[in-house]
Amino acid sequence: MKLDTRTLPDLVSLSRAALEEVLPIIQGAVTKRGRFAIALSGGHTPEKMFSLWAQTAQYRDKTPWDRVHLFWSDERYVPADDPRSNYHMARETLISRVPIPAENVHPIPTSLTPPEECATAYEAELRKFFGSEPPAFDVQLLGIGEEGHTASLFPGSPVLDEKQRWVAAVRVAAEPPQRITLTPVVLNQGRNTFFLVAGEGKRAILSAIRDESSSKPSQYPAARIHPATKPIWFLDQAAAG
Ligand code: 6PG
Repeated sequence: MKLDTRTLPDLVSLSRAALEEVLPIIQGAVTKRGRFAIALSGGHTPEKMFSLWAQTAQYRDKTPWDRVHLFWSDERYVPADDPRSNYHMARETLISRVPIPAENVHPIPTSLTPPEECATAYEAELRKFFGSEPPAFDVQLLGIGEEGHTASLFPGSPVLDEKQRWVAAVRVAAEPPQRITLTPVVLNQGRNTFFLVAGEGKRAILSAIRDESSSKPSQYPAARIHPATKPIWFLDQAAAG
């Protein structure tokens, strides 16, 4: 499968390149629709992008924070102040450092029991914001795991074939195992999809995806995200090989 890649020397330049792609999309979305909606990914790779966004004047001051709405592509089923929470990571690196109104921050809830209730509540929140059609985020940031997962869609998961639900609670072979994730019903709508991939550990999965034929659905969830606009894969040199 052919991937549309941008290879940068290291994580800092990869993070800058992604931000430089995002800023004009923010302006365009605000001009057209009055607001910009982004789905943030979890994991470690986007931390650098978030902190550069918050701490670099040329990015922070050019962002109309009152028009920016933050959502998440997935969340671990842990309390919001747990260091494993994707929301917590974004709060520490970005949200607490920029003038974004609290009502523009839309974390995936994790305090309801069972986790299916959290998925239902988040779908209701998305419907309230976007309306009844599956939402198209202006930007969705995604990552990839070494076995090919993206968001919390893992290889072999029945949720990969979901046709109705926008958000699902899943049990995965990773720590922590209980998670809440957007489904392909939503992730296949994104207006712009950016994968952020850094480090030598990601080299093998990238070459496995490239070696697959595109004539049948990929066995790797990350390569099954096919919105109308082809995803861009931002790689650092270590991941690109
Ligand atoms: C999560 C993620 C997940 C992540 C990849 C890559 O909550 O774990 O959203 O899909 O993006 O596992 O993670 P790293 O950036 O840490 O390699």
